[in-house]
Amino acid sequence: MYDVYAILLFCHLTVLLLAAGNANGHSSDCPDSFDCGSLGTFSFPFTTIEYPNCGALAIQGCKNPNKTALKQVQLTNGGKLLQVTNIVRWRWKTEVTIKDNAFRNLLESSNCNALSYNITVPPSSSFGSFYLKNNITAFNCSHQKNRNISKDFINYTRCPSFDFYFAPSSSDQDYLRSLTSSCSMVQLPVRQDFQFFKDPFGFLTPQITFQFQFSNDCSQCQGRGGYCRLDSHAKLYCAMR
Ligand SMILES: *[C@@H]1O[C@H](CO)[C@@H](O)[C@H](O)[C@H]1NC(C)=O
Ligand SMILES: *[C@@H]1O[C@H](CO)[C@@H](O)[C@H](O)[C@H]1NC(C)=O
Ligand SMILES: *[C@@H]1O[C@H](CO)[C@@H](O)[C@H](O)[C@H]1NC(C)=O
Ligand SMILES: *[C@@H]1O[C@H](CO)[C@@H](O)[C@H](O)[C@H]1NC(C)=O
Ligand SMILES: *[C@@H]1O[C@H](CO)[C@@H](O)[C@H](O)[C@H]1NC(C)=O
Ligand SMILES: *[C@@H]1O[C@H](CO)[C@@H](O)[C@H](O)[C@H]1NC(C)=O
Repeated sequence: MYDVYAILLFCHLTVLLLAAGNANGHSSDCPDSFDCGSLGTFSFPFTTIEYPNCGALAIQGCKNPNKTALKQVQLTNGGKLLQVTNIVRWRWKTEVTIKDNAFRNLLESSNCNALSYNITVPPSSSFGSFYLKNNITAFNCSHQKNRNISKDFINYTRCPSFDFYFAPSSSDQDYLRSLTSSCSMVQLPVRQDFQFFKDPFGFLTPQITFQFQFSNDCSQCQGRGGYCRLDSHAKLYCAMR
């Protein structure tokens, strides 16, 4: 009889211990901040590859004793590694800047493929989502004379077979819609001191800054002084300390 109790008690304890310990990388033991060599120290929503579930974007190479060693990030499962050049986590500004060398090569050689390059934005999670800061919309259209475009668009007609049109993000929706229906569209990063030169290779940049927007649930949690964490089903919960 006592044996049965002992076994039951033992099982119960094991379950409790497993739940508390979260041995397999779950987020009950997330550090408050992360040291990352020359990138500095940062905090949630950024994390390091050693704590992949502790944030929305996990940086590789932070543990390297060589502080200037390459810091990289993989934006999709199986995607290529991209160099992280800056992280800003300060008050309302939450940004990460990466350098895409494939895109840089296309830009430096004024290759038309740069103008329809599909930038990968880091995936959204229950913590929030990323978006491309300082972007313009680029349209890849078949040749056509006298397209009805807005005055604030610019055109680039030096690529074979296709014409490109660039529209600032503040552009008139009606004009955007008319191009969206007949052309393919991507959004591309532009320099911060961006001016509409005639030449897109002058205003596009391979330094790509993503801004992070916390999800409502996570913002509310942080507003109550809590910490956004993921449970074992990757569902958001608010940890208080
Ligand atoms: C540290 O890493 C940088 C960048 O990869 C490299 O240029 C430098 O030689 C490395 N320094 C040492 C001491 O390994
Ligand atoms: C533009 O769009 C066409 C048709 O979708 C595509 O074949 C081409 O690769 C795109 N990019 C460039 C640089 O022409
Ligand atoms: C860009 O990539 C995304 C996801 O990888 C895809 O859904 C989208 O259709 C692509 N856009 C273009 C213009 O190729
Ligand atoms: C481009 O910028 C606009 C306005 O700032 C933003 O709404 C949009 O999500 C950005 N595009 C991408 C692909 O993140
Ligand atoms: C491109 O813009 C120039 C003026 O900036 C205009 O004369 C020309 O017709 C435009 N070309 C196309 C294909 O829209
Ligand atoms: C050009 O497009 C604008 C916005 O969609 C529209 O108001 C205008 O009537 C169009 N002009 C012509 C000549 O089609």
